[in-house]
Amino acid sequence: MAILVTGANGQIGTNLVRLLREKYGRDQVIASDIIRSDISTPPFLMLDILNVQRIREIIEDREIDQIYHLAAILSANGEWNPMKTWNVNLNGYLSILQISVEMGVKRVFFPSTIAVHGKSTPKVNTPQYAPMDPSTVYGMSKIAGENWSHYYHQRYGLDVRSLRYPGIIGYDSMPGGGTTDYAVDIFYQALEKGRYTCFLKPDTRLPMMYMPDAMRATMELMHAPSDKITIRQGYNLTGMSFTPEELAAEIKKHIPSFEIDYHPDFRQKIAESWSESIDDAQARQDWDWQPQFDLAAMTRDILEELGESKFKSGGR
Ligand code: NAD
Ligand code: SER
Repeated sequence: MAILVTGANGQIGTNLVRLLREKYGRDQVIASDIIRSDISTPPFLMLDILNVQRIREIIEDREIDQIYHLAAILSANGEWNPMKTWNVNLNGYLSILQISVEMGVKRVFFPSTIAVHGKSTPKVNTPQYAPMDPSTVYGMSKIAGENWSHYYHQRYGLDVRSLRYPGIIGYDSMPGGGTTDYAVDIFYQALEKGRYTCFLKPDTRLPMMYMPDAMRATMELMHAPSDKITIRQGYNLTGMSFTPEELAAEIKKHIPSFEIDYHPDFRQKIAESWSESIDDAQARQDWDWQPQFDLAAMTRDILEELGESKFKSGGR
């Protein structure tokens, strides 16, 4: 089995490549990205997802039979250049789908997002099937990608699998310009400076998930028997829901002197267009999804991993 990961240098790719290599062996997992960075460990190939010929060459040369297609421009960064975001997120994905069919790639993973939701989507316990009127070009490109996933499965039998990730929080890779990035940054600032200025209002509730749960969900979905997969768009998925003030209160339990203030920017409007909590009953029913980390467990784990003890003894 040879696996290609696009956008592998990103927040999720860093973790996913590590996990896939542990499972399948280093040489079986080809990491790729538009840029090379410190974390680009071999086998690594440069790949701009808009370079269709290069995608074909890699799939042929490396005999790729599974693709984890992570390359994308996220919600906040996407608003700075809508046309480029549409092109990378949607046209890049269409190339992956079409080439996969032509070249016999067996399985494709497409990460969707809570950004597919919009003002008319029910905000609390958002059901799997609900009105979707995204407010960002990122969300527009992801809901279009979901529909194309469904189409390629129906029409060509391509085994596409997809999750609507909530905001993903990890401690060993940096987020790439999304609206939920505060929930990662806050931990670093708490440890380094003892304070944080949040770009969302204190009561902005969003669905979130700790990285280990996100990785496990991805693996469980990708390894589920095909007949268990009843949804080819994106499965609703959630781990927890919290607000910045609730996260700050949890961090304060470990770092009592921690302080937070709030200076909302353009990301507030994006966050307000998304759901507050998600109903992921279908994932639980189809492939036994069950999150393990709540807010308290995640906060404890991140602070331990990032070196709370070092902080207490004088900083990182
Ligand atoms: P990220 O921004 O950290 O990483 C994306 C990667 O894509 C970057 O390394 C970037 O260099 C690469 N990239 C950008 N343009 C490219 C191009 N033209 N060709 C090839 N690579 C390109 O994002 P992430 O958080 O790791 O997200 C990975 C995927 O998961 C994305 O599709 C994103 O939409 C989805 N997702 C992430 C979250 C989250 O909270 N992190 C939530 C929902 C969905
Ligand atoms: N965490 C992502 C973002 O904020 C959601 O897809 O853009």
